[in-house]
Amino acid sequence: MQRFIVNGGNRLCGELTLQGSKNSALPIMAAALLCSSECVLHGCPRLTDVYAASRILNHLGCRCSFSGHTAVIDPSQLSGTEVPEKLMHEMRSSIIFMGAMLGRMGECTVSVPGGCELGPRPIDMHLSALRKMDVDIRERGGRIICRVSGKRAHGAKISLNFPSVGATENIILCAVTAEGETVINNAAREPEICDLCAFLRKCGADISGDGESRIVIRGKESLGGCGHTIMPDRIAAATYLSMTAAAGGEIILKNACVPETEPFLSVLEQTGCGVYTTADRIYMRSGPRIKAVRDRIRTMPHPGFPTDAQAVLMAALTTAEGTSVFEENIFDCRYRHTDALIKMGADIQVLGKVAVVKGVEKLNGAPVEATDLRGGAAMVCAALSAEGTTEISMINHIDRGYENMEEAVKALGGDMIRV
Ligand code: UD1
Repeated sequence: MQRFIVNGGNRLCGELTLQGSKNSALPIMAAALLCSSECVLHGCPRLTDVYAASRILNHLGCRCSFSGHTAVIDPSQLSGTEVPEKLMHEMRSSIIFMGAMLGRMGECTVSVPGGCELGPRPIDMHLSALRKMDVDIRERGGRIICRVSGKRAHGAKISLNFPSVGATENIILCAVTAEGETVINNAAREPEICDLCAFLRKCGADISGDGESRIVIRGKESLGGCGHTIMPDRIAAATYLSMTAAAGGEIILKNACVPETEPFLSVLEQTGCGVYTTADRIYMRSGPRIKAVRDRIRTMPHPGFPTDAQAVLMAALTTAEGTSVFEENIFDCRYRHTDALIKMGADIQVLGKVAVVKGVEKLNGAPVEATDLRGGAAMVCAALSAEGTTEISMINHIDRGYENMEEAVKALGGDMIRV
């Protein structure tokens, strides 16, 4: 099992080109399955989750190959309708293949996505929405067997009781080739949903309202292929900015999606860091010690503060001047990284969904274990500002979402290696 060894104390300085977004690439790869001809995806991040998605595509008979950051998906020979349990368990997001397979083949068999490090992640909203679209769903021994009643699913009016990203994506994927109109009320407004819709529109889909809470989809009989560039990763941006806030330094992030990163940037500015933006770049300067964030940091669906950036910002704030308060409103178990941060000397108290972070003078390096993707990134963030050496194990979690993190950190002057 590989590990990261990080020697803290170096300032981070330099330029970094951001990777394409994981959370955008995965549903778009699933969406390619809906098309009758080849799709070419540029800016596809090289991540273990992306490779897991490509294994699902290949298993179903869609040829998926990579050349650098370009993925070519040929869905013309699609033959399978069943995703084996082992592939489903490789990543939680495999559930978005459900809507796409129903949209193209009218049937699919998947499994309940495996246990997740963020606590139980039910799929009840996905299933009840698809049922509304005339999909017959049976659950047997952990397998979910779905079949549309006629040839195609039927459009429906769906009101989500929470703007779930995955459920919104699954409904869109099923609806683009369904008969009639689908309306999603209280839809998720995450930028990655807009990127998915932009891709689908290029393939011929009729979708409006994405980015707002009411999305309208008029089903088409079939979709063609297209070329598309995956949007930049706003959570990777938040991560490298948090690392620089923690370690001190000056960085320029290129290929940034600036308006979409704004909910994070507006909180980061409260730490006293200088943040300047252009159309596609973020420049940030951080002094030796940042300030605590005055307002409570509440994670919320977009355009609120992103839950995926909670852990990395918390790591940076462990050594801030003053006390910061977090409130996690999206996931039940999203403070698992706090134990590692406390082991490194942080002063954090967790009470239900609230975490109170009292800034300490310094952290100390320690052996820690990545608990989940963003929690693992938070440990790297803390390690870069800590005195001494931190050894981070279970970095397979980090590789799910960050492309060669150690290379990016090294390029900025950080002392981090993979062993
Ligand atoms: C996506 C992102 C993830 C991000 C999350 C919230 C991808 C691949 N992953 O995950 O990085 O942290 O959005 O921004 O894009 N829920 C239910 N029933 C359901 C569906 C969801 O109760 O049927 C709950 C979940 O348990 C969670 C909340 O709703 O508490 C939000 O989940 P959701 O928005 O669906 O997140 P994901 O799509 O899984």
